[in-house]
Amino acid sequence: MDTVALVPAAGRGARLGAGVPKALVRVLGQSLLSRAVRGLLDSGSVGHVVVAAAPGQLDLMGREVRDLGERVHVVPGGGERTDSVRAALRAADRLVPSAEVVLVHDAARAFTPARVIRDVVAAVERGAPAVVPTLSVADTIKRVDDEGVVAETVDRSRLRTVQTPQGFTVDVLREAYGAAGDVATDDAGLVERLGYPVETVDGHTNALKVTTSFDLAVAEAVLAAGPV
Ligand code: C5P
Repeated sequence: MDTVALVPAAGRGARLGAGVPKALVRVLGQSLLSRAVRGLLDSGSVGHVVVAAAPGQLDLMGREVRDLGERVHVVPGGGERTDSVRAALRAADRLVPSAEVVLVHDAARAFTPARVIRDVVAAVERGAPAVVPTLSVADTIKRVDDEGVVAETVDRSRLRTVQTPQGFTVDVLREAYGAAGDVATDDAGLVERLGYPVETVDGHTNALKVTTSFDLAVAEAVLAAGPV
């Protein structure tokens, strides 16, 4: 099956405070965007990548992925992440009409191991309408009341944190985005609302989302440790 990956990269990355969009932040000389896109292609499970960039940064982002060849397309994103994914999905329909599997992947998860990408694609190919990589929760989790007093200790055995790439059949993601309102931070959440089952595969700690300068330091350590 043909697979296309959508990479929303049109955000400002304000929390990182780097003064440039997060996707353009460099780790050991190479941008998160270029690392993320290369990782998708190198996994061997992704045929094409559509990057959604802020309209004023199409050239800038295009330069970051130029050496990765013609399987990478950069298109204008929108005001919210949802708008950017929707724009990339529409572009994918036009640019890669043969695609049956679609991934949505954060540029900020630039160090996602190939195994995770391949497992997500394989699960969709086996028939899952939606798949997310997850990690179990190491910390104890408590729910607090309005005053910050603990109201409950939550059973963490069934809790998972969710990473990307999230995988879908193209038809299911199209339906989800057809029904979506303006704001969603999690694509699988939209699919859940439609009543489709969302399967899980094992994520990996290296697939961390680079959000703060601490995460950048962790990313450098991940790179120094070499491939997994
Ligand atoms: O801000 P946050 O890290 O949650 O953003 C998640 C992803 O969505 C980032 O890769 C960001 O570039 C992207 N995004 C986008 N278009 C927007 C806002 C965010 O593509 N308008």
